[in-house]
Amino acid sequence: MRAALTALTDELKRLKSTGVTSVSVSPESIAALRKVIASRAPGSVAQVEPKQPASVAAADTAPVSTVSRTAPVPKAAAATTLPPPPVVSLPPGDKTSRWEALRNLVLTHPVCVANVRPGKKVVLGVGSLDAKIMFVGEAPGAEEEVKGEPFVGPAGQLLTKMILAMGLKREDVYIGNIMNWRPQTPTSEGMEQVGNRAPTSEEMAFCLPFLMAQIEIVAPELIVALGSTAAQGLLGAGSFKTLGEVRGQWKQFSGKPVIVSYHPSYLLRQEAAGPVAAKKAKRATWEDLLKVMERAGLPVTEKQRGYFL
Ligand code: URA
Repeated sequence: MRAALTALTDELKRLKSTGVTSVSVSPESIAALRKVIASRAPGSVAQVEPKQPASVAAADTAPVSTVSRTAPVPKAAAATTLPPPPVVSLPPGDKTSRWEALRNLVLTHPVCVANVRPGKKVVLGVGSLDAKIMFVGEAPGAEEEVKGEPFVGPAGQLLTKMILAMGLKREDVYIGNIMNWRPQTPTSEGMEQVGNRAPTSEEMAFCLPFLMAQIEIVAPELIVALGSTAAQGLLGAGSFKTLGEVRGQWKQFSGKPVIVSYHPSYLLRQEAAGPVAAKKAKRATWEDLLKVMERAGLPVTEKQRGYFL
């Protein structure tokens, strides 16, 4: 439980550093926290729990999902500690056969499978294997682990609009994540997971070889890191304190130029904060995407240059 509380504090600090001033907490999470407080009250019997990866129920990249009753899910489906990151060796062949082999490896990998709840899916990137541009997000959320595809929920719909604004289609780019599974949070018996948590550095390190293999296959000209977790995953944990330090700048990962930008979920949260904040964040993101278009040799019209001014 200490790990969960530490993760909660870390996650709230991380959100604060990205400009978040409030988070919504579901009634289930409040009830769970009350239970913890009650169990730690003087006179109560301390509960010994198996050590779990850091887990917390707090709103993050995906909106808090609607709570629904389903078949009971195991409380601690996540592996306690992860084995060392896998060594991925891709077979020879064309891009499609190499990607299919990777997909098979990731979707059946025992560690990935152990980290998704029954009925949910391990998620690999999607898109053109000849893409010039690769977007990298954080981790699948509620919608993504159901569909088995990255960025299909509200943040994904916004990302798709951003790609269209660049004059491209979603199928023209490649979209992946640092993580191949949705980081789990403790769930009451019979309840769906509510909210998301940031992945631990151990989880990110475990999945990184899968992302590197996707980069090797697609060989994009450049990578866009969406949000703080993606940027930490690619640039290294602790390489910056606040996203503002690196946003809009070109860095390097695996020999590829990487630009760091805001996560679409952040833009959605800014919408909730009001029109001025939303426009400012959208313009900043758009300026990053203009840099991407220029570097990728895409045409930029005057109209596009003026979006969100
Ligand atoms: N947020 C992410 O970072 N990735 C997804 O796939 C969905 C939401």
